[in-house]
Amino acid sequence: MEKAKFIWMDGKFIPWDNAKVHILSHVVHYGTSVFEGIRCYKNKKGSAIFRLENHTNRLFDSAKIYRMEISYTKEEINNVIVETIRKNKLDACYIRPLVYRGYGELGVNPFDSPVKVSIAVWKWGKYLGPEAIEKGVETVVSTWQRMAPNTFPAMAKAGANYMNSQLIKMEAILRGVTEGIALDIFGYVSEGSGENFFCIKDGVIYTPQLGASILLGITRHSVIKIARDLGYEVKEQFIPRELLYICDEAFFTGSAAEITPIRMIDKLKVGKGERGPITKKLQEEFFKITAGEDKYNWLTWV
Ligand SMILES: Cc1ncc(COP(=O)(O)O)c(C=O)c1O
Repeated sequence: MEKAKFIWMDGKFIPWDNAKVHILSHVVHYGTSVFEGIRCYKNKKGSAIFRLENHTNRLFDSAKIYRMEISYTKEEINNVIVETIRKNKLDACYIRPLVYRGYGELGVNPFDSPVKVSIAVWKWGKYLGPEAIEKGVETVVSTWQRMAPNTFPAMAKAGANYMNSQLIKMEAILRGVTEGIALDIFGYVSEGSGENFFCIKDGVIYTPQLGASILLGITRHSVIKIARDLGYEVKEQFIPRELLYICDEAFFTGSAAEITPIRMIDKLKVGKGERGPITKKLQEEFFKITAGEDKYNWLTWV
C-alpha cells in the first residue's frame, strides 16, 4: 500500500510509521473492531467524499451493536476525516475510520478495554483490478456461507466478520477467479466478501434484502436509488442460486468495488459474458455523481 504522512489516532496526528497498537490490545486477539471504508474522489470541482455522513452513521451503528462507546460526536469524526485528508495533502483516496478495543484486560470480556478511534487515508486504485469496471470479473459461488443471523450480526461492519470474508476471498483466488459469491445459511444469495450483489433478469433488478446476512451497503443504497429514478424496477428479495446462472447481467457494489460487472459465475457466462447495458447505464450515472454532478447531495467537499 502507498503510505500517506499521518494517521489520526485518538485526537492526534501520528506519523504513518509510528501509528501502532500494543500487541496485547483486545482487538489483536479477538477482532474487537468496527470500521468503515469510504472513498474520496477527485473531480473538476475538487475532492469529494462520497456519502460521508451515511458512513459515519453506520460506524456509530456498528459500534452500538457491540456496545462500544465512541468518545467523539459524529460531527467531530466527519471533521477529522476531512482534516486528515487535508493534512495528508491527498485528493483521491480511500478512508478507513476504525473503532477498536485497545490495551486493558485480555479476557474475552471487552468492557475493561478502552474504545479507541483511528482514521487513516491513502491512495487506492480500483479494488477488483484496473480493468474490472469495464470488463467485469469472474466469480464462483463460495462453499463458505455468510454468518447465520444469530451469530455475527451482518449489519455491523465488524472486523471479526472479515474472517468469514477472507475464507470466501481465499477460496475464490485459489479457484482462479477474482471474487466469491456467498450464500446465506438458508441457501439464498447473500453477498461477496466485500461487496453487495445485484443481478438483472428481464429488465428487473434484484438484490438480496436486509436480513440475508448482508451488510447494508451504502453503494447498494445509492444504486437502488439511481436505478429507481431511472425508471427500473428494483426488487430486494430472496435470490435463489439458480438465478445467478440464468440472469442477463450481474454486478457487485461497494465503496471499494464501486459498480463492478460480473461476467462469469461458476464458469457460466452471465448474459453475453461481458458488462451488460443496464450495468453500464448505472455505472455512468454513478460516476457522474462522483465526478461532481451531485444531484442527490451525496458529496462532502474537502
Ligand atoms: C461484506 C460487505 N458487503 C457489502 C459492502 C459494500 O458496502 P458499501 O457500499 O457501504 O461500501 C462491503 C464494503 O464495505 C462489505 O465489506
